[in-house]
Amino acid sequence: MRAYLTQLLAQRREQLNTGAPLDDVFSRLLKSHFDDSIGFADERIITNMMGTLVGGIETTWAAIVQLHEQLFKRPKILKEPIDAAYSNDDHLMYRYCWEALRFNSINPFVVRQSRTDYRIAKGSLRAATMKAGSTLLISTRSAMRDGLKLPAPSSFAIDRQQSVYMHLGYGMHTCLGDEISHIQVPEIVRRILQIRGVRPAAEIDYAGGPFPERYPITYDTAA
Ligand code: HEM
Repeated sequence: MRAYLTQLLAQRREQLNTGAPLDDVFSRLLKSHFDDSIGFADERIITNMMGTLVGGIETTWAAIVQLHEQLFKRPKILKEPIDAAYSNDDHLMYRYCWEALRFNSINPFVVRQSRTDYRIAKGSLRAATMKAGSTLLISTRSAMRDGLKLPAPSSFAIDRQQSVYMHLGYGMHTCLGDEISHIQVPEIVRRILQIRGVRPAAEIDYAGGPFPERYPITYDTAA
């Protein structure tokens, strides 16, 4: 993909230089001017184009599969999101999805590099110093189950504060597709839960990788 996009970038830039009225995402990035301090040169543009495709597809299907599994594991609760699927309440649907995903979040951590020596949780017993240049794995999955920060973290509750949910990251690198995902994921789940008698036919098959490759479901056929 990188090889393809590298040659496409040169081609697009050539077209833009000759005044072609291109207005797709890739061309708009090429038309933008980023300060050097932002570090958003051609290579980063290509990385983001790849991220838009790869991050947008695999993450979406992983979220949908993993949250369904969590809902199916809770037969007492399952009726509620099924009822929500028949309502027009998009936000309610979203809340069931994001809460279910909290029990098997698809992103265990975000990766960061410490720019300076930095002391985390200064003044507490768990204080620790991160050395400049060290790589940090910051576990958003763990934060979403932190008993010190949210009540009854092992209970399924749809009335939690929105800030609890870090499925789409946090801060300046929050997922580019966060607004899309808030709509897209619950909408797909709604359609699946509307299938009469929908239930898993087997466990999720990860095929040795990080993303679910197969999750067969079955349903009741019309009488
Ligand atoms: C439920 C679905 C999704 C989940 C759970 C998810 C998760 C995440 C997370 C956790 C990050 C932050 C990574 C970090 O801070 O290091 C991220 C970043 C990103 N996501 Fe998503 N994502 C989803 C859907 C999408 C979609 C639909 C798109 C594209 C339309 C997308 C494109 C990106 C891109 C380009 C970034 C990098 C942003 C940056 O570095 O500034 N993602 N995503």
